[in-house]
Amino acid sequence: MAHNIAVIGGDGIGPDVTAEAIKVIEAAGVEISTTDFDLGGQRYLRDGEILSDETLDQLRAFDCILLGAVGTPDVPPGVIERGLLLKMRFDLDLYINQRPFVGTAPGGSEPHDFVVIRENTEGPYVGEGGSLRTGTPHEVATQGSFNTRHGVERCIRYAFELAQSRPRKHLTLVHKTNVLQFAGSLWERTFNEVAAEFPDVDTAYNHVDAACIFFVTDPHRYDVIVTDNLFGDILTDLGGAVSGGIGLASSANLNPDRTAPSMFEPVHGSAPDIAGQNKANPTAAILSAALMLDFLGETDAAARIRAACAEPVTGSTTDVGDAIAARVRG
Ligand code: NAD
Ligand code: IPM
Ligand code: MN
Repeated sequence: MAHNIAVIGGDGIGPDVTAEAIKVIEAAGVEISTTDFDLGGQRYLRDGEILSDETLDQLRAFDCILLGAVGTPDVPPGVIERGLLLKMRFDLDLYINQRPFVGTAPGGSEPHDFVVIRENTEGPYVGEGGSLRTGTPHEVATQGSFNTRHGVERCIRYAFELAQSRPRKHLTLVHKTNVLQFAGSLWERTFNEVAAEFPDVDTAYNHVDAACIFFVTDPHRYDVIVTDNLFGDILTDLGGAVSGGIGLASSANLNPDRTAPSMFEPVHGSAPDIAGQNKANPTAAILSAALMLDFLGETDAAARIRAACAEPVTGSTTDVGDAIAARVRG
C-alpha cells in the first residue's frame, strides 16, 4: 500500500527542496501517494487562509506531512510561522522535535554523531504574555515560558528511551537552571526522577551558554541532548553550522503516540536571500524525508538515502537532487 503523504512546499526555497526530496523517495522505490497543499505566504496574500481548521482536519487523514519551509518577507514575521507551522506542531501534538547531527566541525578531524531532542509544544513558543502601552515610550512587553510537568516529562522520557537505544547511552540535559529558577527547576527535577528509571543511561547537564561553546569546540561529548523549545531552536541552527552546514540539517516533528500524523521538515527556513535561484541545498529536505521513511517503517530505503547523502554533492538544487537520486537507484 502506498503511503499517503501531505506535501506543504510553503515559501521561498521550500517548494524547490521538497520536490527534490520527493524525487529521491521515488528513486528509492518507496510507493507514495502525494497530495499538495497550497499553504504559505502567497496563499495567505491571495485569500487569507493560513491553516483553517478544515484544512488541518484534512491533514489528519494522512500518514505523514512533508514540509519545505514557511515565512516570507511579504508577510509580517510570525503570521505564517505561528498560524501554520506552530499550529501544526501544537494541534497535532508533535511534542518531539528530533534533529540529528552527523558531521565534522570546522577544524575538527573525526565526525561527531549526536541528536537534539527539542520539546516542541511548550516553552516561550506558547505565546504567553502581552504588551502594555504599546507604541509609547512606556511600553512594557512580557513573554512567558510555559512548562508543564506532563509536557516536560514526556519529552525527557522520549530522550532517555532514545539514549538507551544508542551504543553510547548518554543523555545531556541543556537548560539555564542558574537563572530560570522555576522552569529550570522543573526540568532538572523531572530529568533526575526519570533518570532513576534508566540506570544504564549516563547523564550530564550543561547550561545552554556553555553548550554553545562545546558544540563548536567539543561536539564529541554529546550523544543525545534534551532541551526546551527555544534553546533547542537556537542550538540546532548551531548544530547545523558545525555539522557541514544548515543545508544538511534535517528534522522530525513527532507525535510518538501516533494520534495524529507526524511532520518532517528541514531545520532551515525559506531562505529569501537565495529563493528562486536554484541554489538551495536540498540535502536537508532529502534527509528529512529519510527520517519520515524511518517513521513509516521503510528503514531500508531510509538507510540507502542517508548513505547516498554521506558524500557531499555540490551544484544547483536540481543537480544535487538528481545526483542523490542516481546514487539511491544504484
Ligand atoms: P533561513 O534558515 O531561511 O536562512 C538562514 C541562512 O541560511 C540564509 O543565508 C540562507 O540562504 C541559508 N540557507 C538556509 N537554507 C539553506 C539551504 N537549504 N541551502 C543553502 N543555504 C541555506 O533563516 P532566516 O533567514 O532567519 O528565515 C527566513 C524565513 O524562514 C523567516 O520567515 C523564518 O521565520 C522562516 N523559517 C522557517 C522555518 C521552517 O519553516 N521550518 C525554519 C526557520 C526559519
Ligand atoms: C524552526 C524554525 C521555527 C521555530 C520558526 C519558523 C517558527 O526556526 O523550525 O527551527 O522557531 O521553531
Ligand atoms: Mn529554527
